[in-house]
Amino acid sequence: MKKYAIVLAAGKGTRMKTELPKCAYPLLRKPMIAYIVENIRNSNKFDEIIVVVGHKREVIQDILGDTVTYVVQEQQLGTGHAVMVCKPYIKDMNGDCIILPGDMPLVDDIVIEKAISEHHDRRHDLTIVTTKIEDPEGYGRIIRNESGYLDSIIEHHEATSSQRMISEINTGMYVVNTKILFESLKKVTNQNSKNEYYLTDIVNIMQQKNHVIGTYYLLDSYKSIGVNDLYALSIAEAKLRLKINKALMINGVTMINPETITIGQNVIIEENVIIHPNTYITGNSVIHKGAQIGPNTEIHDSIIGERVTCKHSLVYNSTVDEDTTIGPFSHLRNGAHIGAHNRIGNFVEVKKSSTGTNTKASHLAYIGDATIGNNVNFGCGSITVNYDGKNKYQTTIGDDVFIGCNVNLIAPIQIDDNSFIAAGSTLNKNVPKGSLAIARAFQVNKENYMREKSPNEEDKI
Ligand code: UD1
Ligand code: CA
Repeated sequence: MKKYAIVLAAGKGTRMKTELPKCAYPLLRKPMIAYIVENIRNSNKFDEIIVVVGHKREVIQDILGDTVTYVVQEQQLGTGHAVMVCKPYIKDMNGDCIILPGDMPLVDDIVIEKAISEHHDRRHDLTIVTTKIEDPEGYGRIIRNESGYLDSIIEHHEATSSQRMISEINTGMYVVNTKILFESLKKVTNQNSKNEYYLTDIVNIMQQKNHVIGTYYLLDSYKSIGVNDLYALSIAEAKLRLKINKALMINGVTMINPETITIGQNVIIEENVIIHPNTYITGNSVIHKGAQIGPNTEIHDSIIGERVTCKHSLVYNSTVDEDTTIGPFSHLRNGAHIGAHNRIGNFVEVKKSSTGTNTKASHLAYIGDATIGNNVNFGCGSITVNYDGKNKYQTTIGDDVFIGCNVNLIAPIQIDDNSFIAAGSTLNKNVPKGSLAIARAFQVNKENYMREKSPNEEDKI
């Protein structure tokens, strides 16, 4: 019996009032839809994840790649219709499936697992996950009869003012018998204020057939946030930020002003790390023990070694080895690998380059497409000239090399071990081991060049 998870992500997200399709919006720099698919996968309960796409589907497909099955809903005629278009892709109707909206990023694998076991234990044909929230505006309300059993789900726009007082809502997550689901969907119409096919209408259709319908009440109501507009996005993001930061602090990570610190869900931070304000650490980053990060720092998809200090800097797709100092105002990107005990300082950019141990570029340098050895001093204002307008070229620098200030290394070029490059040189030839290279105009002093001014000239000034 094959188990399917269906995620609805075809909608435009009109209420977001912006260009990006809603489910692609990021929380802590990771798209909403990626959270949902990851959490479904973490629950280990499903053989296939079907994602319904439509509006700007290429954006969603770009995020998820080929990890899921896509079903295209050409016209967004409602949540019921979105599930209906999946029918030809469901090869096995015998089991149960789960349906999740693509705008519910905080629902986690624990909730998914619990809803499924509740569904099985109580032998439901349909389980609706509900919760109570303070401000239920926009959500479908759960209408119960006098005995407390589910009567129906009324959408916000269809609800009377007294129904709108009900704080129990439909989270939009369901576990349902697959065969009964598709039989019931056939009968859903679009006779409502929005002229949409509402998935929620299957409740009454299934009741007429005496199918067993129940609810699973979610205690952690924040996990049910449906992100319909940018305000809800900020609330969801704040909740997730707090949850992640709290877990890290309890595990021995110090955070100064944690509300200004954003740590992505997949980031690993070891104990004894100190994070200063206004810092973002996102993607698949790892921060090893004893590091000090921030303030005002962004680290994405990077690995930071033990006892590294990194302040006022940007680090993307890069690795920094132990005991190195980065910043202030450094920019490491595109596969930079900085060795141990380095100092990469003020206004230094390092792109797609590596350094050995104990190397320094303390001020105002550009290092691009370079391999640099141990104990190298890369002087203030020195750069690798790696680009001729068409192609990029490599610079190779050996060990124990001193590069003076304001040196241009025109790549491709190789500077061998133990050489010394005089300040102000522009080099376009390799430098052999142990050499002094000097390539600049020599200074000429023309003595008595400046005329002495006459007293009359002084008066004119
Ligand atoms: C839906 C529920 C509501 C529930 C709320 C929970 C219905 C009719 N209403 O309302 O009861 O309280 O979620 O957050 O189901 N989508 C498609 N194709 C479509 C329409 C929507 O794929 O034709 C997708 C959207 O991209 C979105 C999800 O389905 O990810 C939910 O749609 P949305 O318009 O946000 O529904 P709500 O009005 O929030
Ligand atoms: Ca929604």
